[in-house]
Amino acid sequence: MSRQPTFDRVASVYELLANLWSLGRVGQMKRAQLAHLSAGDRVLYVGVGPGDDAVAAAELGAQVTCLDLSPRMVEGVRRRFDAAGREGTFVVSDLFAYVPERPFDVVVANFLFGCFPDGRRREAVARVVEFLRSGGRLLVADTGAPRGSAPARAFWYVYHGLAYGFSAIQGLTPWLPRFDLEPDLAAAGCGIEGRRFVRLWPRGPVTFETIVAIRRD
Ligand SMILES: C[S@@+](CC[C@H](N)C(=O)[O-])C[C@H]1O[C@@H](n2cnc3c(N)ncnc32)[C@H](O)[C@@H]1O
Repeated sequence: MSRQPTFDRVASVYELLANLWSLGRVGQMKRAQLAHLSAGDRVLYVGVGPGDDAVAAAELGAQVTCLDLSPRMVEGVRRRFDAAGREGTFVVSDLFAYVPERPFDVVVANFLFGCFPDGRRREAVARVVEFLRSGGRLLVADTGAPRGSAPARAFWYVYHGLAYGFSAIQGLTPWLPRFDLEPDLAAAGCGIEGRRFVRLWPRGPVTFETIVAIRRD
């Protein structure tokens, strides 16, 4: 079991900061994931955070479970579901301790894997994939790794250095994790079906990425 500090102390401002910091790209990436969900799907949002994406999935007719280590995050999501008149299942747990009743059709893990140090990321990816049924989809939006030209890579370091610097000072994440999930997903038995690099402005440097992966085994 991990001993991570929880996001409780930033729960009330996290969504606002993420959207300001990303010029709205974080919200856009999450909304685009809805195209991969269908009414009736059993969907797990792991490390759900503020849960704007989870409520939208429930509004589409998905059966949504929200899991987070942070009790305040989960409480906030529960209130959002109540306000939207939607039902959901809410779990405060470390993902390593969580045992679902049965596997999910879709698991969404947004901005989760940067919470783990390099030595634990592969383990976290494998655990998250275990929550899926065979043929199920994993959807990820995250900060990835620097890409492209030297100035584009330098921008990535400065931009994410500031954001991760803030969260590292709070003890929430390592400072500036850089990761390519492809080998970790392959090791967990997943193939990448779609990958998109996201920029803050047209033809700007890559700052985020989204991945759609399928559990093959
Ligand atoms: C950076 S936030 C992202 C929140 C949300 N997915 C989003 O994109 O807005 C990471 C979230 O993962 C949760 N988290 C981190 N480690 C976790 C773990 N081991 N088990 C469950 N949740 C975890 C944190 O509490 C936090 O709410």
